[in-house]
Amino acid sequence: MERTLIILKPDALQRRLIGRIIQRFEEKGLAIVGLKLVSISRDLAGRHYAAHKDKPFFPRLIDYITSGPVIVMALQGPRAIEMARMLMGATAGFEASPGTIRGDFGADQTFNLVHGSDSPEAARNEIALFFAEDELLDYSPAGSEWVFESGKT
Ligand code: RTP
Ligand code: MG
Repeated sequence: MERTLIILKPDALQRRLIGRIIQRFEEKGLAIVGLKLVSISRDLAGRHYAAHKDKPFFPRLIDYITSGPVIVMALQGPRAIEMARMLMGATAGFEASPGTIRGDFGADQTFNLVHGSDSPEAARNEIALFFAEDELLDYSPAGSEWVFESGKT
């Protein structure tokens, strides 16, 4: 089954929004199969955002993502990657549609509350960066049979 890595970024914690943001993913029907509070080192941040290392915003991005504790989550379900990105909305809060996490809570391009993997390969790599295999639990929450025709997350 498909998995994606979600990070609730430092602004989400500092603004006391983690409960409301996690609720969005829960309500959609995705299963939380891994979750922890961590402080991201600059080295780990650089590996996670390696694809952006030549972008002009890279130093600010690394400062931001290492500026305080974050929640990392692995979510599981059919089309988990695509659905999580839809729930998050466009990168910048000022462009994201209302009803999305960034559209409802965000107003900035860097401080955008949440990260989600953008491809199956990225998801595999990112989950492996943040979770040991035994920290990921495979299950389908009660009621999944009324969310997905397959009944499985
Ligand atoms: P993410 O990887 O965090 O899920 O976000 P994303 O795919 O929507 O955006 P991406 O292009 O991958 O950018 C990664 C993060 O860098 C910051 N950013 N700053 N021009 C800027 O100042 C700028 N552009 C992007 C954001 O924190 C973005 O989420
Ligand atoms: Mg990205």
